[in-house]
Parts: sequence; C-alpha cells; structure tokens
Amino acid sequence: MILGIETSCDETGIALVEAKGGLRAPRFKVLKNFVASQIKIHAPFGGVVPNLAKREHLKNLPLLLKKLTANELKAIKLISVTVGPGLEPALWTGINFAQELCSKLKASAESGLASGGKNPKLKIVGANHLEGHLYSFLLPNSYSNILKNIRIRNLFPAIALIVSGGHTILLLMESFSKWKKLGETRDDAAGEAFDKVARMLNLPYPGGPEIEKFAHKGNSDVIPLPRPMMTQKNYDFSFSGLKTSALYHLRDNPKANKADVAASFQKAAIEVLVAKTIRAAKEFDAGSVLLSGGVAANKSLRKNLRAAANKIGARFLVPDFKYNLDNAAMIAVAGYFANLRKKNYKLMAQGDLSV
Ligand code: KG4
Ligand code: ZN
Repeated sequence: MILGIETSCDETGIALVEAKGGLRAPRFKVLKNFVASQIKIHAPFGGVVPNLAKREHLKNLPLLLKKLTANELKAIKLISVTVGPGLEPALWTGINFAQELCSKLKASAESGLASGGKNPKLKIVGANHLEGHLYSFLLPNSYSNILKNIRIRNLFPAIALIVSGGHTILLLMESFSKWKKLGETRDDAAGEAFDKVARMLNLPYPGGPEIEKFAHKGNSDVIPLPRPMMTQKNYDFSFSGLKTSALYHLRDNPKANKADVAASFQKAAIEVLVAKTIRAAKEFDAGSVLLSGGVAANKSLRKNLRAAANKIGARFLVPDFKYNLDNAAMIAVAGYFANLRKKNYKLMAQGDLSV
C-alpha cells in the first residue's frame, strides 16, 4: 500500500495505490487519487508562480490527507514523494510533509495507539516526477485488459515519449528498470511551446488544451510552419524556432486567422513528435510505444501516434486522461519501482533531476 505525494508544480496530489507483482508483472489499483489544482490561482500571471505554488501546497496537503480514513493510513507501507524535477520551493513542501507524516505514523504505530503497531517499518522513498509520467500507462485504464492479456516482456524494447510543460524526452526502455535516453529537447519543451503560442493568441494558461480546442476551428494547412529537426538523424527536438515562426507570422500578418495559426502550430509540433518517435521505434524494433506527460492529453497527438505505431506493428500505450496531468497516483507507482530498483533518490528538492 503506497501513499503518493506530488507537489512539483501547480497541482497538489495525494493518492493511495495498492501494488503487487514485483518488477516482472507489476499491477496497480488506485484506491484514492486526490488532486487540488491551482490553475485558477496562477492563470492571471500566465504561468506558475513558485511562491504561490508553495503556499497553496502547504494549505492543500493536510486537507487532502484528511480525506483518507484512519484504517487507510494504518495500511500504508511506503510513502513516495516527488523530489524532482520541478520548482524547488514547491518540492520542499511535499518532502517536509512526507517526512513529518512518516514520523507521525511510525510513532503512533510504535505506541500501538492509532495503528495497533501495524506499520512501524513504514518506509519513505523519493520519486522522480518524470518516472511517474513514464510509468503512468500502468495505472488502471482502458488498456488494463490489454496489459492483462499480454506478456509484459513483449512490450520491450519500448520507446517512451515523455512530453510535458518542462520536458520532451525520448527513451529506449529495455525493462521497467533499465533505459537509455535517446534524445530530448534542446530548447523549449513541447508543452512550453503550446503555452507560449497560446499566449501569443491571447488564450488563457495553460495553453495546451486551449490550443487544442481552438485548432478544431482552424485549417492546419494554410500557414507554412517549419518542422524543426524532423529529418535529422538524432533523436533531439527543438520547439523554440517553431514557436518563433508562429510569432513572426502573426506579426507580419495582423489579419491572420488565429485558429489557423493554432491548428498549423499543433500539426507541426505533432508531426515532429510522431516522426521521431516512430523512427526510433523502427530502428530499435520496439514492441511498444509509450506516451505520457501533460501534452499526451492532446487527442490529435494520441490519435496520430497510435496510428503510426500500429502501422509498424508496435502496441501503443497511453494513460487515461486523468493520469496524463500531474497526479500522485503516478508518483506512488514511481516510488514502487524506485524501491524495487533500490534507486535511492535523496529526500531533497532536486529541481533539475532527469531520467
Ligand atoms: O505533465 P504536466 O501536467 O506538468 C509538467 O510536468 O510539466 O504538463 C503540463 C503541460 C502544459 O504545458 C500544458 O499546456 C500541456 O501539458 N497540455 C497540453 C494539453 N493538455 C495539457 N498540451 C497540448 N494539448 C493538450 N490537450
Ligand atoms: Zn508532470
């Protein structure tokens, strides 16, 4: 029984997840998954304000924890808390909260008062937020049945694309505990580019979902935008030039149809993401293509990557929408694996942690 705690950015998350199956056949059941979103608080600033985020996490964490029953608290065997990457003041709130909770639960277990001495061996592990996204396809979702019916080893080697507000990373996974980074963005993350283009179009923060909605009303083929690094042989990405091209187009064509800009930008970004991911999947003869991170909520990205993966005979796995955005259930899963892999992340805020 794992308690996940997530405070890396602008969502406070607490989740209770039951896990079994070791590293070979991991299975998860989400018993509780609470997310307190701060989007409305940061929206007027057009982005996340670290100290506001910290204040909100401090306020929300105890409120979310209160939603768990005494019996649920007693049953916890592992506390998994995000240590990075993310905003350091925000990360510290989660880490301090987790450590205090761990001591409290241990103390009450030892005195036999609250837990009947059930969890004196309670452990706490640091979790990598990106690994949370990476493993999030394992949370129960519309694919659970597929996962039940396939041999986990047939998923590997897997190509995993993590696309969020802070990262765009392509990984080659040999197993749940072994992977290699093939490439990443050299400048803006994909989600960051969505957010910045949204701002140019006067759409609210966070921009990704707004661009997606707006793009439906536009024509994606009338504005020529570049596909940066698409045909280069490496697996790195670049989104800042694409964003700037959209900016110049708007500057030089004040009467441009904004929905066309949104649609053209979205199409260009997705084409690059899909092309490079599929090239890696072909090169490494991948059994599966995994997609995760906030941008994975984009339906057009999901649809195009699924079609391209299936075309080359690879399974396509993506978490359900509720696990795409930041949440603590995925952090519980990341802690489960970190614990089994004996990957001891220091219980300190590590803003720049990577995978
Ligand atoms: O993973 P996430 O919740 O937080 C980080 O770890 O960064 O990702 C947030 C990012 C934001 O940039 C947001 O604009 C983007 O994911 N996003 C989307 C969509 N929904 C969220 N981007 C494109 N299309 C979407 N539907
Ligand atoms: Zn995230």
